[in-house]
Amino acid sequence: MADSKDAHDTIDALLGENRTFAPSEAFRSQAVVSDPGIYETANADIEAFWAEQAKMLDWYKPWDTVLEWDAPFAKWFNGGQLNVSYNCLDRHVLAGRGDRVAYHWEGEPGDQQTITYKQLLDDVCRAANALSELGVKRGDRVAIYMPMIPELPVAMLACTRIGAPHTVVFGGFSSEALSDRINDAQAKVVITADGGFRRGAPSGLKINVDKALETTSTVEHVLVAKRTGQDVAWEEGRDIWWNDLVDKQSTEFEPARMESEDMLYLLYTSGTTAKPKGIVHTTAGYLLGVTATHKWVFDIKDEDVYWAAADIGWVTGHSYIVFAPLANCTTSVIYEGTPDHPNWERWWEIIERYKVTILYCAPTAIRAHMKQGPEYAEKHDLSSLRLLGSVGEPINPEAWMWYHEHIGKGQTPIVDTWWQTETGMIMISPLPGVTTTKPGSATFPLPGIDADVVDSHGDSVPLGQGGYLVIKKPWPAMLRGIYGDPERFKATYWSRYPGLYFPGDGCKRDEDGYYWLLGRVDDVMNVSGHRLSTTEIESALVANDVVAEAAVVGQPDSLTGEAIFAFVILKAGIEATPELGQELRQFVANKIGPIARPKTVMFTPDLPKTRSGKIMRRLLRDIASGRTIGDTTTLADAGIVESIREASLSSKQDD
Ligand code: PRX
Repeated sequence: MADSKDAHDTIDALLGENRTFAPSEAFRSQAVVSDPGIYETANADIEAFWAEQAKMLDWYKPWDTVLEWDAPFAKWFNGGQLNVSYNCLDRHVLAGRGDRVAYHWEGEPGDQQTITYKQLLDDVCRAANALSELGVKRGDRVAIYMPMIPELPVAMLACTRIGAPHTVVFGGFSSEALSDRINDAQAKVVITADGGFRRGAPSGLKINVDKALETTSTVEHVLVAKRTGQDVAWEEGRDIWWNDLVDKQSTEFEPARMESEDMLYLLYTSGTTAKPKGIVHTTAGYLLGVTATHKWVFDIKDEDVYWAAADIGWVTGHSYIVFAPLANCTTSVIYEGTPDHPNWERWWEIIERYKVTILYCAPTAIRAHMKQGPEYAEKHDLSSLRLLGSVGEPINPEAWMWYHEHIGKGQTPIVDTWWQTETGMIMISPLPGVTTTKPGSATFPLPGIDADVVDSHGDSVPLGQGGYLVIKKPWPAMLRGIYGDPERFKATYWSRYPGLYFPGDGCKRDEDGYYWLLGRVDDVMNVSGHRLSTTEIESALVANDVVAEAAVVGQPDSLTGEAIFAFVILKAGIEATPELGQELRQFVANKIGPIARPKTVMFTPDLPKTRSGKIMRRLLRDIASGRTIGDTTTLADAGIVESIREASLSSKQDD
């Protein structure tokens, strides 16, 4: 694989890419969007454009103003009232579409459920009644920590029906990460499961909740769905089984009339400090942004069977497994487990079984399949596929071409979609019936999105050059803030270029104006499409008694995009051994979650620092990228120690 060595190589490799793929006439002629004029219409009057789109939602009360912009605080559709679960469920059932399949759900062990819109509405109403019985009211926060089972979207939608913002915590996170998030959100109820299945084995969730609640004070009840049947500890009065409480409830629950700007949910994402940021999304603009972009980018039709192979615990799952597909009355697939269980044919079996027409996944998954070889996919009939999507990190041209040839059989368009937890909705992506794609480029900002690439002064860079991606005008699904921390919101996203939103990504525009995303410009790493903060992992390492200091950097990895490389200074008298390295890796996994486990731990007697005490990460990155990748523990050799010392000394003399 011709993988990038660092951001600079990525630029060069990407710019060497000259292949283009225009939409076929067959695709164009049937596409939801086939008129390129949409860009001009939208950008001529962005507010009028979004107001026109807003007709795709059902409103109890129309809005007074489309946009109130007091930078960096936006209000979209202020004065309007609506309910998200009504838009996702009731309106379809009322239109006689209750028998349509909302979800084909498949568990990792192979169990299956087909859930229609009517059934989902009934389940959501029951769950909303159950939560009400537990005291959840409009405005209360509910933490959700679940495997990918049908109760997860049901729980989210039940919260939206009550008007209680949820915060879904990815099931792979540790009890500590969970308790931090519960505390920040001040959640009143936690919804979880006994456990979930992963690679054939049950793994515990309730046990982590029990541990997390030792350090929280706001949670009154824990609602527990039964998934694995494993033994769980039980606190009478606090813990309730989902089946005992939810099943007996009525299937009627009047949806709350929410204000457009009422908080819909919180989703925590890593920042450059150890404290995760609670990204705030509100009701109307968010729902409109995701619903519209889902329809355009994935060319959604009634006949489609759409599969976003992501976890609902990340924003991709919130926007494009739960809210947008349901608002569009789409039939979707949800799969609980990993792509390699029981073997690498699993995804392709699922596509064949449900005749999936649209597949949306992460480059890291594509690279994992690529590593296994195309023979697994070749054993299955993938002819139902008509569109492929990619999200989460830059897709290298080689992976794009593999996806195109082996999964799309050279026929299906690929939409590489750039966006973030903060943007809520897809921002830069091809429109498959309009845009000529180039492998590795997310192409252009969507209609109604005003983006630019600027230099360090905030000036637009000429075509053909790289710089920083910025968004110049507000968009409906934009984050409204960081929960409880407006100053951090301003500092993180709006201070680098006043008045412009800075997502933290590098970007290059080629001579034709195509956008090529270059990854994060700060210290946050992107591992398998998940953003992880170096600081959080360093803090976890330092929390171990034997560790004096730690510095973590991303190392280019052909499979996961970036791999975590940890430099560790041990306390005096502690011996560096491979066993200790393994222990530390596991320690981080326990503290933050398996995804944060460093791939490599290197023991070093020193770290390169500036006089002000800042670690010089660039040098560490250089060292890390020169090392072979593997699950390893190594001792820094004399050469590395020397270069670290030299760099530290010279910086101290310089500044
Ligand atoms: O660096 C960009 C990368 O993922 C970051 C956002 O991560 P998160 O909030 O976890 O959301 C991931 C799913 C939307 C971005 O700042 N990223 C996401 N999509 C792409 C991407 N980088 C390049 N190309 C993409 N298509």
